[in-house]
Amino acid sequence: MSTYQAPAKINLSLRVQNKVREDGYHNVDILMAPIDLYDTLDFHNSRTTTIKCDTPGVPTDESNLVFKAVREFEKVYGRKAKQRITLTKRIPHGAGLGGGSSDAAFTLLAINEILGTNYELEELSTMAAALGSDVPYFLTPTICRCKGRGEIVTPVPELARWSSPIVLLKPAFGVSTPTAYKGLTCSKRIKGISYGPQKVDDITLVNDLERPVFAKFPILARMKHWLLEQPGTRAALMSGSGSTMFALTETPEQAAEIAVRAKAELDPTLFTHCGTVNPRSQA
Ligand code: C5P
Repeated sequence: MSTYQAPAKINLSLRVQNKVREDGYHNVDILMAPIDLYDTLDFHNSRTTTIKCDTPGVPTDESNLVFKAVREFEKVYGRKAKQRITLTKRIPHGAGLGGGSSDAAFTLLAINEILGTNYELEELSTMAAALGSDVPYFLTPTICRCKGRGEIVTPVPELARWSSPIVLLKPAFGVSTPTAYKGLTCSKRIKGISYGPQKVDDITLVNDLERPVFAKFPILARMKHWLLEQPGTRAALMSGSGSTMFALTETPEQAAEIAVRAKAELDPTLFTHCGTVNPRSQA
């Protein structure tokens, strides 16, 4: 058996050009960072490919992005990959944390290793881009700048050793990424909510998808406002197209205290995670 840990990401910055491209996507400029929240994937050689997942609501058929990754790999390989895959989900779905994309990228990396096919990063990246705009990022999940529709990934060496405590808050509902992008043309800002750039060390945090997503889900705007008022918060932002809101804090203790207070003061059903941005910088 081979086991892989697929990390979640946050968007430290997400800038979107309003103009829609001919292929229906938007050009973006994203600063992506891994966090220490992981799905686990176990791979066994088998007679056919199957997926098992204990989390209710996660499809285990061909519609799962992990299955699609296997099929994409097989198209290039020209043969069947034949893996029994067990997926243990910890990254919530519809959260803007890239869980499905990370699982798909790690499936490509795993099969490449298990079958000894030794495809180069560039070839894996082409397969990954066919699966989703965020998937190529997870082939090298360090702090990276992602351009084009997100698939043009460049590591940022100046930030290789940067790290921060973080707290994530995610309400029970998720946000659909296409809906978030569609809202860019027509949504308005909510009065009293700050959308502007925030500075932490040498990083500028801003997310252009906050405007359309907050217009549809004002509770997320209130969560951002609340996070910004908490002791120890250095910056607060939505990750990707939401619904996860996060705060970078000065200490891990402050992150933990915010998570406890959020459940008491905002919503007892919130998913929370306290951890580290760019955890391997400390390895
Ligand atoms: O590539 P992915 O499947 O993650 O994209 C989901 C949807 O999000 C796209 O179909 C598109 O509507 C929107 N999107 C976009 N511009 C991007 C990435 C995603 O408009 N750069």
